[in-house]
Amino acid sequence: MEAIGSVWSPHHDDPLRRSLAGALQTAIEAGHLPAGGRLPPERLLARRLGVGRNTVAAAYTALARAGVVTRRTGSGTYVAADRRWPAGDASRLPDNPLLRNPAPISERLVDFRTASLEADESVVPALREAVAQVSVLAHGHGYVTQGWEPLRVAIAEYLSRSGLASDPDQILVTSGAQQAIDIAVSALVDPGDPVLVESPTYPGALDVVRRVGATAVAVPVGINGVRSDQVRALATRVRPRLLYLTPTFNNPTGAVVPESERQRLAGLAHELDFAVVEDLTLAELSTGPAPPPPIGAFARADNVLTIGSFSKLFWGGLRLGWIRGSVPRIAKLARVKAVGDLGCPLPSQVAGRLLLGLVDEVRARRREQLRSRYALLERLLRTLLPDWRWATPAGGPSIWVRLPGGDADGFARLARAHGVDVVSGTHFSPDGSTAGHLRLPFCRPPQILEAGVKRLANAWREFEAGRLEAEDGSRPLV
Ligand SMILES: Cc1ncc(COP(=O)(O)O)c(C=O)c1O
Repeated sequence: MEAIGSVWSPHHDDPLRRSLAGALQTAIEAGHLPAGGRLPPERLLARRLGVGRNTVAAAYTALARAGVVTRRTGSGTYVAADRRWPAGDASRLPDNPLLRNPAPISERLVDFRTASLEADESVVPALREAVAQVSVLAHGHGYVTQGWEPLRVAIAEYLSRSGLASDPDQILVTSGAQQAIDIAVSALVDPGDPVLVESPTYPGALDVVRRVGATAVAVPVGINGVRSDQVRALATRVRPRLLYLTPTFNNPTGAVVPESERQRLAGLAHELDFAVVEDLTLAELSTGPAPPPPIGAFARADNVLTIGSFSKLFWGGLRLGWIRGSVPRIAKLARVKAVGDLGCPLPSQVAGRLLLGLVDEVRARRREQLRSRYALLERLLRTLLPDWRWATPAGGPSIWVRLPGGDADGFARLARAHGVDVVSGTHFSPDGSTAGHLRLPFCRPPQILEAGVKRLANAWREFEAGRLEAEDGSRPLV
């Protein structure tokens, strides 16, 4: 019970049941409550935490429904014997709305599910120019497993300018950051290993951790991202193999880990012997000052991999990203990439090199776009949904909205019926503790933002009315 008491407090502002279920799941995933072990009897835990027995019973039921525990009549509640995701079995992963195909046009849904900008105006001309250049390259076989060398040179120069001195041999070109996460995490982690992830975090990374069969352990994200003292406390306890994080514009909150904390995290990884995968996919979407150098710049050993992408600054359709690490590690990862696909398409890589030459100009354009779209979303929400709260992000494409009440999954379902597709917070955390939130992208074009927020406001009116009615009905009559 110590393990539960140390991670759960009844003052948590989520509904009690959800909050307790989340804390129990974290304790289980961190290994404090071993597989097959018995959970405390409901009455005992309720007394210890100062909550009603019904709250504990409801939390246990929620965990049983999620397959985290099993309930044996007359004998108690037990941690499920093997509750890891079976390694390699992607078909049993939970739903990830971010990775669903777009809804059919006929449904006329406003897409608030995707937090990506449309292609920058430089992309189509670069693709045209790339086709012209490929006609020269077409005499060769076209396979470049680690990545086309001129592109690796351009990425290495770009990273060196950001404060992470890099050599072209330290770069592996990947099919977007998603493949980079997949290759990096799969190479570093075995089934059953604890992996520290931010809560909230990018759901595509949670998918990878689960598919590998590892156990995601949540580190809370605050106003300045994850805190090194919290990482230290958790890492000392669970001995993770890996920390995956998005230090520059956490997806979804937009939080940035300050430079001093990056130095500490690099030191901790060395001291406590875990690897760091830092995902800088959103790092170019700054609406304020330039972010600090990557964590890789402070690494004390060969234990930090840095991931980046062309998707957010230029266009997701290029399917281009990279991993930067030590030369021997990148050579190994290139071998893994080659087994999967023998390398990225050459035309995209040629366009990527051309685009990296325009990075300053495109960054400035994106910044203006993001600033004006954020201002529009803020105005719309303050007018139409004045009770919704969020922290102003320093960058990134989205805000992390705290709903004034109710369950965001239920609200997302209702919003869809009102014609807007939005993702609830549940998907951004390994333990469901972020279920009172929604991620709202402010990067969508103005007319989409306007239509989407109007529909959200209609949905919210209906949702609130239903919620208040339910609360009313549950109140005792005398
Ligand atoms: C933090 C983060 N990592 C990775 C990705 C995947 O990016 P890509 O399109 O480069 O695969 C995304 C996409 O939204 C993201 O937000």
